[in-house]
Amino acid sequence: MLLLRHCRGLTRVGLLKTQRVQLLQGAVPPVAVCAGSLCARWGSSHGGQESGQYQRSHGPNWRHALAGLLAGTGAVLAYGLHHSQTEQAATTIVQPIAPASSLPIYTQDEVTKHRSVEEGVWVTYKGSVYDITEFVSMHPGGDKILLAAGGALEPFWALYAVHRQDHVLEILSEYKVGELSAEDWRKQQSVKSTDPYSTDPERHPALRINSLKPFNAEPPPEILSDNYITPSAIFFKRNHLPVPQVDPKSYRLQVEGLPGGAPLSLSLEELKTRFPKHTVTATLQCAGNRRSEMNKVKQVKGLNWGIAAISNATWSGARLKDVLLAAGYRPEVARQTCHVQFEGLDSDVTGTTYGASIPLNKAVSEEGDVLLAYQMNGEDLPADHGYPVRVVVPGTVGARNVKWLGRIIVSEEESSSHWQQNDYKGFSPATDWDTVDFKSAPAIQELPIQSAITQPAEGAVVERSAEEVTVKGYAWSGGGREVVRVDVSLDGGRTWQVAQLQSSEKGQVPAPSPPPGRAWAWKLWELTAPLPPAAQELEIVCKAVDNSYNMQPDSVAPIWNLRGVLSNAWHRVKVTVKEDEEKEEE
Ligand code: MTE
Repeated sequence: MLLLRHCRGLTRVGLLKTQRVQLLQGAVPPVAVCAGSLCARWGSSHGGQESGQYQRSHGPNWRHALAGLLAGTGAVLAYGLHHSQTEQAATTIVQPIAPASSLPIYTQDEVTKHRSVEEGVWVTYKGSVYDITEFVSMHPGGDKILLAAGGALEPFWALYAVHRQDHVLEILSEYKVGELSAEDWRKQQSVKSTDPYSTDPERHPALRINSLKPFNAEPPPEILSDNYITPSAIFFKRNHLPVPQVDPKSYRLQVEGLPGGAPLSLSLEELKTRFPKHTVTATLQCAGNRRSEMNKVKQVKGLNWGIAAISNATWSGARLKDVLLAAGYRPEVARQTCHVQFEGLDSDVTGTTYGASIPLNKAVSEEGDVLLAYQMNGEDLPADHGYPVRVVVPGTVGARNVKWLGRIIVSEEESSSHWQQNDYKGFSPATDWDTVDFKSAPAIQELPIQSAITQPAEGAVVERSAEEVTVKGYAWSGGGREVVRVDVSLDGGRTWQVAQLQSSEKGQVPAPSPPPGRAWAWKLWELTAPLPPAAQELEIVCKAVDNSYNMQPDSVAPIWNLRGVLSNAWHRVKVTVKEDEEKEEE
């Protein structure tokens, strides 16, 4: 039905044929001559179903596949059309179809009249005019797309750089109805559109960037395991939106939803001085860590994280429990409320902020160690990590560790945010974008057992003359469960050796074992073993075990899921053994 409506929309403006010709002539690669065909292809290549099947059940599929191709929301970024989103990609985009003389010319005033579904929804992009009325109903953010109605797309696409890709323009081109008058186009160009990311902080050049705007990056694995405490500069960074500029002097943290009248409002100074300072060493891991391995099984949607969307830091701040008590929390509250919601100060064009929630019992438990952190590794939180205050929820998926914290709400309900309700959930490998029902799965909180090899790297060469090989990595488990063992194999899992665990900086006195259930920090591990005599190639494998005897699954396929989260199969790295030259000559 939507497919038909969409294509009617195209034929209505009588452009489909002309544009197909233009596409085939090479103005734009002939990938998707109709958004419908793109979605059908998406469905078949990503969901594995026939396009016929897709057409029978295309409603949600349309919504997911076309998520945010125009003015979008954070949902767009989260669904992430999985292609690389680097600046490089942004600069190599094709231009929309060249102006065709047969198309009518519209003034900006005429475009501005089309700001509703009833009047038609028109937008401009690089001097061309597009009637996207038919697209509006396919947009999961629905009315948010209307923010761009009657005006230019450029400011919205500046916020959501994911749009700057060839195929998005290809789809947009299908909706072209005319050209903007030369005068109005000149005027538009003279208005400098502000880049919402222009105030983002500088980042360390060693970081491997997955997306520039918003900024998402991980450190190279080989330097990740050099430090037990990850230096803040190379700690992985996961932002859904521009980094907000927060003035520490006027900053207020609101705490709401507790009985006893007015919400508590705290300045940064009050947070620092009214509550005891507590320090916790805790590992944060993104739900999408190691997603790239799932992509090798079957393409998923999301940023293509390697093995380093995980890092370990010391965090200092007030305990959330203490702040909730000051705001009126009493044990009776737990009878009516079950969740503590967090709102960030980073927001999209509609003012929608990043948000998440955690169970109340984790928030108020002494042993839960949930912090309203204002320091990371002994210094003020860096801008990328939530300055001036973030929540640190040890043992819990990164997504709930809300940065740039503005509001805390004790509630009967989970956060209604997209990232709590429609993302960061796990599904069966059988679930695809046609069948997924986000309401059917719980939001990820505690993460499963995880380990990965940081050295040697995939494809590395080990000299036979070295006689031995050193393998390094990290291991961590969610929910405060302690990693008690890491097994390493040099032969693809046939035989195993136990690695040495490290729970402090090298050369320092090992930290005492954490109290049961409060092992929030990772363990680094290392194994030096003789090179197997005959092997020309080693398949190095690692797997960790926690104190509940949880172990990692041996392969990716059985845990594959459409968003590529919770990727924790045995990690495998292949290296070549280089024989000594003399021996080779013999
Ligand atoms: N908080 C806000 N306000 N905005 C965000 O985009 N990203 C979340 C979480 N908190 C996010 C946020 C996600 S998905 C992760 S994995 C962690 O922050 C990453 O924290 P880091 O950037 O400090 O490593």
